[in-house]
Amino acid sequence: MAKYHVIGGKKVQGDVLISGAKNAALPILAAAVLNGGVSVIKNCPDISDVRVSVDILRKLGAYVDCDGNTLIIESKDIGKTAIDRKLMEKMRSSVIFAGSLIARCGEAAFFAPGGCALGKRPIDMHIGSFKKMGIDVREENGEIICGKNKEHDCIIELPVPSVGATENIMLASCMGKSMTRIKNAAAEPEIEDLQNFINSMGGKIVGAGSSEITIYGCEKLHDCEYSVMSDRIEEGTFMCMAAMTCGELNLKNISGKNKALEEVLCGVGCDISHSGNELRIKTEKMLKGGLDVKTGYYPQFPTDMQPQITALLTLCRGESRITENIFESRDRHIDELIKMGADIKKRDSRNFTVKGTDRLNAAQVCARDLRGGAALVAAAMSAEGESIINDIEYIQRGYEKFEDKLKNIGVSIKTEKEICDDEKN
Ligand code: UD1
Repeated sequence: MAKYHVIGGKKVQGDVLISGAKNAALPILAAAVLNGGVSVIKNCPDISDVRVSVDILRKLGAYVDCDGNTLIIESKDIGKTAIDRKLMEKMRSSVIFAGSLIARCGEAAFFAPGGCALGKRPIDMHIGSFKKMGIDVREENGEIICGKNKEHDCIIELPVPSVGATENIMLASCMGKSMTRIKNAAAEPEIEDLQNFINSMGGKIVGAGSSEITIYGCEKLHDCEYSVMSDRIEEGTFMCMAAMTCGELNLKNISGKNKALEEVLCGVGCDISHSGNELRIKTEKMLKGGLDVKTGYYPQFPTDMQPQITALLTLCRGESRITENIFESRDRHIDELIKMGADIKKRDSRNFTVKGTDRLNAAQVCARDLRGGAALVAAAMSAEGESIINDIEYIQRGYEKFEDKLKNIGVSIKTEKEICDDEKN
């Protein structure tokens, strides 16, 4: 496993160009199966999760060409309907291909998906919703086999607004003759991006971005060209880095979908201003804590920013409380932050109390998941001395050109490979 060496203690300063959103790109890549034609997808981040999606598409029989951040997908020859098991184990969102394959080919077969370990992450809502839509679902030796049976109009009310289940229903129902309505749908901006992508192929979906989405089946979808929205979690991560190093960043090409996070950052004392699709964040003095941060469904505070905000609160005067309401075990960054001198008490895996300290120590720590790993890099940037972050493959799943972007804003960061190359020269 690869590692980062970070020498901290310097303010970050400069511009960061925000990449396309991972959580929008992944379902959009799955949706490229639908039209049986050409999809030109721009602003696609070059991250390992996107590369896994491309491998899945190729294994299904699609032709995929990459030109920088543009992917050209020709899905005419998709013949297989079984999603590759090894690739599924690499990434949870691979389950989203099931909906697309059911819509396009009438069937799909897949195994339980992998992904970051954030506690139990079942797919019961995906399966239950397929059944309500008239799709037969059976299990054979761990493989889940779905086949379109009777098509009919239906209303599906989700027990909780699951992002993945909402997307899978949208994908599975967008072709055919019937209408599907999702109640208590997830309202995340990335779902709106998926709606816009499918509609750019001639689909008829309305309501994404709210808790009720209606999908009208279409007989045929056509070629399309689309640009993926910006990554609000990448934006948020860089904002926390500016705050934790008392730095100043200008983020370009932002999503404009980070209101809950910006409120928290202003609450601790950051100065944030907007101009068009740019955001400037500046932090001059020791930050004030005493906050109560609770994660929730959009537009509430995003769970994907919980590790980074926890890292930030370790440097904010006073005692803050964090409640993780989405995932049962999104707490694996806590022990690593404690190794860096953070004063955090865990009541259980969802409730933590953070007491601000003046500074963190450099330490050797381990990334345990994507966002927790990014939080450790931010912590290392604020600590005096050299920290080592192990298992950075988790971080590379979701941050495009991470080291390059950090070097550009003045961070001393090197991969183990760069250090070995330096020693050879
Ligand atoms: C997506 C995001 C992820 C984000 C999460 C919550 C992508 C690729 N990933 O993940 O970054 O952290 O939304 O905003 O977009 N659940 C069930 N049964 C199901 C489905 C979900 O119990 O069938 C539970 C999950 O265990 C979790 C909660 O519902 O506790 C929310 O999960 P969900 O919204 O589905 O997250 P993902 O789509 O996996």
